[in-house]
Formats: sequence, structure tokens, C-alpha cells
Amino acid sequence: MNKDFFHKIKENKLCFHIETYGCQMNEHDSEKIAGILSEMGMEKAADMETADMIVFNTCCVRENAELKLFGNVGALKKEKRRRPSLIIAVCGCMMQEDGMARKLAQTFPFIDIIFGTNSMQELPQMVYAAIEHGERTIIENKPFGAIIEDIPVRRNSAPLSYVSIMQGCNNFCSYCIVPYVRGRERSRKPDDIIKEVKSLACAGYSEVMLLGQNVNSYGLGTDTTFPELLERVATETGMQRIRFMTSHPKDISPELIAVMAKYDNICKQLHLPVQSGADRVLEKMNRRYTIARYKELIRLVREAMPDCSLSTDIIVGFPGETDEEFEETMALMEEIRYDAAYMFVYSKRKGTVAAEMEDQISDEVKKARITRLVNRQNDIMYENNLKKVGTIQKVLVEGRSKRSVGDLCGRTDCGRMVNFPCEEDLIGKIVTVRITEGKRSTLMGELIK
Ligand code: SAH
Ligand code: SF4
Ligand code: F3S
Repeated sequence: MNKDFFHKIKENKLCFHIETYGCQMNEHDSEKIAGILSEMGMEKAADMETADMIVFNTCCVRENAELKLFGNVGALKKEKRRRPSLIIAVCGCMMQEDGMARKLAQTFPFIDIIFGTNSMQELPQMVYAAIEHGERTIIENKPFGAIIEDIPVRRNSAPLSYVSIMQGCNNFCSYCIVPYVRGRERSRKPDDIIKEVKSLACAGYSEVMLLGQNVNSYGLGTDTTFPELLERVATETGMQRIRFMTSHPKDISPELIAVMAKYDNICKQLHLPVQSGADRVLEKMNRRYTIARYKELIRLVREAMPDCSLSTDIIVGFPGETDEEFEETMALMEEIRYDAAYMFVYSKRKGTVAAEMEDQISDEVKKARITRLVNRQNDIMYENNLKKVGTIQKVLVEGRSKRSVGDLCGRTDCGRMVNFPCEEDLIGKIVTVRITEGKRSTLMGELIK
């Protein structure tokens, strides 16, 4: 491949569109893919219909993702026939599942490029082969290597930014496919992370979200723990706001709580997935904590940071979950009163331990449970929002509200979305807002300064 190829891309004004599924890691991977394609001279397309290259960055944490992906890719068959030069690429976690890349390649011979979570740096070669030689590249089951530094990133969400601090997961929760499709835990070097956050702060980003499947176990292969890294980010980078996710309850340390409490630029927000309110279920999930331990953690967090906002993930209908065990989850929600919860129906993932367990729960029971849980949690969130009325909050302005014209929107330190009327362009600034109204999922406010 030579520079002429990049010129050709530029001259022809080729543009790309990326469809991203799944979690923040995938969102951030898509920013890297966009970075690589931009360096090759491609532009972002206005939409999928006008793109010369379409990339699907897949997730497979739940089973129905496969149906959806196959549907969406299948729908492009006609378009590819009409425009043979259209490049179609599929990548991400699902392509790392056993046999999936091959199945997809066989089902849809018109796909040009398939690769997993660990090969994006080879994208220029793959695009070159497709455009110059009409060749397909299918990368299947590539082993997970070291984290690759210096991949260009084209970010989507200024003034917010994502920085990945580690990849993979070693926890093997019995329901979860992530360790199989993202490999073992690998941590970036602390200095590389500090350098990246510093450059983001210099470039005008106001907030960083440090990303990892389990940030609290950061540090493998470095001599730095997560609380130490967090303290360095808080003191050495000039970043105005710092968040992080996800935290595994078994690995939260008193040091982490102390660092969070100590620095104003670390947001008082903790995402602490509990998954279930019943000890027996937690054990079968291989979560390695009890509800008593979890509650003790929450107590320590609230003691150190009374206003800390808490969010969680919950799975209902795990194999063998009884009515009584589900009631324990309901009771825990009632007690903790999370500000946000991501609630899922258990989904069987081939290759995981839980997929082989007996007593899989019927769809009917799962549906009844999730409906009750979601309804109650929505009410709790609303009640929490009402309690915020009259308080003064620092809000980082993210943009214009899509819902109400003339309003700006942004998040409080604790992560709540606030809309407030303002004509001025304050995007990227941290402003002070008085909360005037609590709605179901957002707050309304007025600008003080
Ligand atoms: N590492 C993070 C995120 C993992 S995936 C963590 O530990 O929290 C995000 C969420 O998806 C999980 O917290 C879990 O609640 C949910 N999830 C994972 N596997 C699932 C499955 N097989 N069925 C239903 N929900 C699942
Ligand atoms: Fe999955 Fe558990 Fe790892 Fe999270 S900690 S990614 S739920 S195995
Ligand atoms: Fe994330 Fe889905 Fe992969 S949740 S890590 S994109 S399987």
C-alpha cells in the first residue's frame, strides 16, 4: 500500500458510517476505527445511505444481538448489488465468538471485511485489499495480544471523552461472554494514560470517562493500583471532571473511596453492578461477594460521600432464581434507591457456565419479573429526582436539548441530565444551576451563573 492509495480515497471523497452496538468500550473502539479511516483520508458520511463504507461494530453480550445483526447486514444485499463499490465491514465482540466470523462470511458473501476486537490496526490493509483488488479479508479467532498504543482516535462526544485504561476481563461471571470475546485483562501503562488525558484537557475536553470491564483490578503488569492511577489523573492532567466505569464490588478498596472523596474533580458517581439481591444466586453467578458485603461497601461510600450517586446492573431470571430470590432483589433496590439501573433479562450465552445450568427460567416468568423491577426502579428514580428540586448543582454543558428548543442540557457531577433555558452558547463550560423541577428521567433547572 502506498500514499497514492490515500490520495485516491481523498480525491474520490470516500466517506464512512459506523453502526455501534454494545457498551462504552465498543463506542470507544468505534472512535478508534473512525480515527484510522480518517487518517486514510475518509470523511464521516451524513448517514448510512450516502456512505461508501459501512462498518458494523458488534456486541454479543445478549443473544438477540445476533438476529438483529444478521437482519441489518442482510438488508444491505440489494444496496451492494446496486453499488458494488460499497465496502461492508463487520467487527467487534461478536466476531470473536467461535465460528461466528465464518458463519457470517458464508451467509453474506457480499461482506468485504470481518475482524474481531484485536485487529483494528490492520484496517488500512483490509480497506486497501477491498478497494484496489476487490479482495475479501476475514480474520477469525485471532489470539489476544498486547494493547496497541497510538491508534488515532476521532471522538464523537466533545466535551466528553473516553479513555480506555485496560482491556479484557478475568472474572468469568458464569453468565457472561465478555471474557471470551475480549480476552484476559491487560492494563495500559499509567504514563500513557496520563499523557492521553492531559492532551485531551489541553484540546478542550472537560470530562474524561476512564474505561475498563473492571477498573478496580487495573494494574496488572504495572506497579500502579487503580486508586493510585485515579489520583494521578486527578492531580496531573488538568482534566476538570473524571468518571470511571465499571467497578466490580469484590475489588472496591477503602483507598478508592478515599481518593474519590478527596478530589473535587473526581465525580461523585459510582456504577456498582450488583446483578442480584440473593446470595445463592450471586454465588452461582461467580460474583464473589455477598449482599452483606455489598451493603457494607455502600455504607462506606455514603459515609465518605453522602451525595454520591449510585447506579447498578441487574439480571433477572438467572437459572434457578426463585420467586423469593427475586423478591430479595426487589428489596435491595428498595433499600439502596439507585439513581440509575440497567436491568436485563438473563440471556443464555453459548460457552458460558450458566448456559449449561438446569432450571432455566421461562420467558414468561422473566418478563413478569423485569416488568416489576423496571416499574419500581423508574418510580425510585423519579422520587430521587424530586428530592433534587431546590438544590444547586454544577452542570457541564454538553449541548442543546433535543427535546425543548432554547434549552441547554448537561450533567450534574452525580451524572443526572439537566435541561435549562439559555440562549448563550456555553457548551463545554461548567455552570451553576438551581434545580426547579424533577421529571422521570431528567431534571429541569435555571442558570445562576
Ligand atoms: N464488566 C462490566 C460490564 C459487563 S456487561 C460489569 O461487570 O459490570 C454489562 C452488563 O450486562 C452486566 O453487568 C450484566 O448485568 C449484563 N449481562 C452480561 N451478560 C449477560 C447475560 N448473559 N444475560 C443478561 N445480562 C447480561
Ligand atoms: Fe462480564 Fe463479570 Fe467480566 Fe463484567 S466482570 S465483563 S459481568 S465477566
Ligand atoms: Fe461491550 Fe458487548 Fe463487547 S457489552 S465488551 S460490546 S460483548
